[in-house]
Amino acid sequence: MSVPLNQEVDSDDCLKEYKYVFQRDLLRGKVAFVTGGGSGIGFRIVEILMRHGCDTAIASRRLDRVQTAAKKLEQATGRKCLAIKADVRNAAEVEQAVDDILRRYGRIDILVNSAAGNFLCDAENLSYNAFKTVIEIDTIGTFNTSKAVYQKYFKKNGGNIINITATLAYRGDALQVHAGSAKAAIDAMTRHLAVEWGPDGVRVNNIAPGPIKGTEGMRRLGGKSPVAEMMYSSIPLKRGGQKCEIAEAVVYLSSDASSYVTGTVHIVDGGSWLTAFNDFSMRKQFLQSKM
Ligand code: HXC
Ligand code: NAP
Repeated sequence: MSVPLNQEVDSDDCLKEYKYVFQRDLLRGKVAFVTGGGSGIGFRIVEILMRHGCDTAIASRRLDRVQTAAKKLEQATGRKCLAIKADVRNAAEVEQAVDDILRRYGRIDILVNSAAGNFLCDAENLSYNAFKTVIEIDTIGTFNTSKAVYQKYFKKNGGNIINITATLAYRGDALQVHAGSAKAAIDAMTRHLAVEWGPDGVRVNNIAPGPIKGTEGMRRLGGKSPVAEMMYSSIPLKRGGQKCEIAEAVVYLSSDASSYVTGTVHIVDGGSWLTAFNDFSMRKQFLQSKM
């Protein structure tokens, strides 16, 4: 039986208690930049990095969201968190964000690309702009931040890029052509960048989560409905994932424990993609029942 070590919290709040898997000071002195760090999986990633000694910067479109998150994170961990308003689709805003982080901390060691957009929609009814929007946030956003951090810091100093992708494209998930295509492109980008930037000491890896409980992503894909429960019971490990299980994979990829690992995709999904239900007409019925 796979039993999670920590008791999760569904909301965007810090864990009440944290049991360490890794050494507490594993990332002491390091600085991480996490896009989409104000909510969901990104928020927990930031918290767990900070609990391992990291100072952080978080960016998203809503300044109030990242400011509130930064306060909670600083209080719970005693580390620093800089809140920045930036839309990852906008290269100028991303460059400004990187300049602000370097001015504040003088370094960046870890970049986590967690910002993304998603919803359920079949391809026929997906507007051209809807497809483009998700590609712009996920794929182009990931390129924008990676390039800005590389040019301004990683090229000279090395560093670690970790992209949060998904398993959607592996079996062509119904109602997910936009997010699946966007994340598959990031998987490809990871390998290209690992090859080009490896000689500068930059490692580039991905984590592909399965269905993670207590997240906006899951609320959009089924929430707490019977369909979600059915989805969880079909997973080989028989449960949905926890945000902190994704965060711990990020700690591994951020640390020297993975010093010879680059260009990879780490699937953290309890085996979900192997057995997940993927019938187009039944998924479409589910979507219609939500409308
Ligand atoms: C169909 C939709 C839609 C929906 C928006 N659109 N929602 N189409 N079904 N539910 C269409 C709009 O009509 C519009 O097209 C186009 O998408 C752009 O919409 P905007 O609202 O103008 O875009 P924007 O304000 O940029 O918002 C982006 C967004 C939004 C993705 C649409 O939902 C968002 O901000 N999401 C961020 C939070 C999020 O999605 N979190 C979950 C991440 S989970 P038209 O043609 O009308 O102009 C995740 C999970 C992956 O990524 C894997 C899970 C297993
Ligand atoms: P979430 O809480 O909605 O996280 C997405 C974040 O991205 C939000 O904080 C949002 O903040 C930010 N964001 C969206 N568009 C942005 C933009 N243009 N520029 C800057 N920031 C932007 O959802 P989540 O479910 O935790 O997902 C987090 C990551 O995990 C995503 O990459 C997702 O694809 C991946 N994932 C999730 C699951 C799951 O089960 N939840 C499964 C597989 C993969 P603002 O609205 O303030 O901009």
